[in-house]
Amino acid sequence: MKILIIHGPNLNLLGKREPGIYGSDTLGDLDSKIRSLSDELGMEAEVLQSNSEGAIVDAIQSRKYDLLIINPAAYTHTSIAIRDAIAAVGKPAIEVHISNIYKRENFRQHSYISGVATGQISGLGAEGYLLAVRAAKKILSE
Ligand code: DQA
Repeated sequence: MKILIIHGPNLNLLGKREPGIYGSDTLGDLDSKIRSLSDELGMEAEVLQSNSEGAIVDAIQSRKYDLLIINPAAYTHTSIAIRDAIAAVGKPAIEVHISNIYKRENFRQHSYISGVATGQISGLGAEGYLLAVRAAKKILSE
């Protein structure tokens, strides 16, 4: 079982970026928690971060994986290209947001991704990724 975890734009700044909203964990801290939980659950995890929409589309299309966990960050609210890539590949996908996008500005309250995602986790902080890893195990074991 292999999962691909994609972090979208500006998530490389986690820990420094608006810590009141996104918390104090760095992306490195978060990725080691994701990797150790995936190991514990017997899944292989590939993690990548990109600030570029095209690179994210390329990764969704070309990497080998059974399930995608993606925080598309600002592209959530703008990217039909990422939505179409997820739909085209047809693999289960879990959308994660650190903050609760439905409690924030109006422009964050629409996701182009949720219509092609298996499910969405929003507002549970970095813990949301770990819940997504556990959900991935369940989905792939069924
Ligand atoms: C985010 C929410 C988005 O609106 C924002 O653009 C992000 C992060 C989150 O994880 O809460 O960059 O996806």
